[in-house]
Amino acid sequence: MKKLILIAALAVFTFADEFTKEDLAKWFKEYESVVKEGRALFTSPRLGTNSVTCNECHPNATNTHPETYPKFQKQLGKVATMAEMINWCIQNPLKGKPLALDSKEMTALIAYITEERRDVPLAPGKH
Ligand code: HEC
Repeated sequence: MKKLILIAALAVFTFADEFTKEDLAKWFKEYESVVKEGRALFTSPRLGTNSVTCNECHPNATNTHPETYPKFQKQLGKVATMAEMINWCIQNPLKGKPLALDSKEMTALIAYITEERRDVPLAPGKH
């Protein structure tokens, strides 16, 4: 039985590696278009009700520290993901409605913020 599971796992890993260059290029292009949507949302007042944008307090996503999540956030009183902190900013500084954690908009914001910190080493839990 154990042997069978091992063979099955190996097969999955083997197949998982078979991407064509075209696949990779296509997927990265899709990723980049979501980053672009995220940047548009980040710099637009449409997430809130008081014409404030994320970019006013976090120009080019500064002071967002995506690499430190999950971590304890004082405002939320628990260990949280960055998405929960994004919703905190939408509800407080922007006076808006929180986004569904699996919404297109939330994914785009996370993609944009994380892209701005490309190559920064992960440091979950750090302050
Ligand atoms: C009026 C200023 C202001 C605006 C506008 C604002 N934020 Fe924030 N943001 C803050 C403050 C203050 C914190 C809390 C800093 C802390 O304690 O980590 C914060 C924290 C964050 C964090 C976590 C930072 C960390 O170091 O852990 C993220 C991510 C974030 N904001 C994203 C956003 C997004 C996305 C928007 C737009 C929807 C936004 N913020 C709008 C002030 C703002």
